[in-house]
Amino acid sequence: MPIIASQAGKTKPINNLPKSGTIAGILPSVAECRATAWGLAKRLGAKLIDSPPAEGLYLACSIEGLWLRLRTAHRDLAIRAEFGAGRQAYRAGHASPRSEAIARACGLRRYGPRYVVDATAGLGRDAHILARLGARVTLLEQSPVILALLEDGFDRASRQTQSLDWLGHMRLIGGDAAIWLRSCAPAQRPEVVFLDPMYPRQAKGGAPRKEMQILQALLGNADDTDSLLQAARAAALDRVVVKRPRHAGPLAGEAPHYRITGRSTRFDVYLHC
Ligand SMILES: C[S@@+](CC[C@H](N)C(=O)[O-])C[C@H]1O[C@@H](n2cnc3c(N)ncnc32)[C@H](O)[C@@H]1O
Repeated sequence: MPIIASQAGKTKPINNLPKSGTIAGILPSVAECRATAWGLAKRLGAKLIDSPPAEGLYLACSIEGLWLRLRTAHRDLAIRAEFGAGRQAYRAGHASPRSEAIARACGLRRYGPRYVVDATAGLGRDAHILARLGARVTLLEQSPVILALLEDGFDRASRQTQSLDWLGHMRLIGGDAAIWLRSCAPAQRPEVVFLDPMYPRQAKGGAPRKEMQILQALLGNADDTDSLLQAARAAALDRVVVKRPRHAGPLAGEAPHYRITGRSTRFDVYLHC
């Protein structure tokens, strides 16, 4: 049975995960990583490889952590979940409920810390900001490969020395969020469901950012966003917040109650009524 729900180091199997995306395999960078890479390969139903593929996606397992890499004829792009260093750590460290539009959209500024389900976890950056601002966040992710990156990011963050209260606020669950939200027991219903689904690549316009290129190569644009929005609206006690590109139409064509619009991103807020 594939993957995992984890909280504070505990893991348990769950069973509604789709098959993993099309990675060519897992490349251990040094002999010390072979056992970890092997365990991951078994879990993802992937193979170990000895060198990067000529083209395509693969996971690179090194002493510094796990990377998802996309090799093309011209480039080798890499992403990983990073909470303890770099731009994301700086942003989270300086975040406030007033400065972060996502926090205002989720009602953290008005109501204080609350329970949020991030139903499209991705690399966990939005969830990290919310958790740093005191929210309890359950992250749901359907891709076993992305889930492995998130676990690796949490694992590295948990080994850092500075205070990590926020890590205890986050819980990771693998599987289809629409199913999880529909079967959510009354006592588990979150105040807020946050959605940031993949956005279809425009036929014209600039190249998407590195993360988006790799995520699109792994996942495509195949989110069933209409049913996800419906499930989210049925589960959320107070509101659903949807992150969209600034000029995109609303999800499922459903107009939100209000919007918070930033330079390139917009948060559509659907209140529970
Ligand atoms: C654009 S990314 C989210 C990025 C994220 N907000 C962040 O801060 O890194 C969308 C993610 O949602 C996941 N996803 C889409 N539909 C889902 C579903 N029904 N259940 C769980 N995860 C889903 C995709 O696998 C992908 O990893």
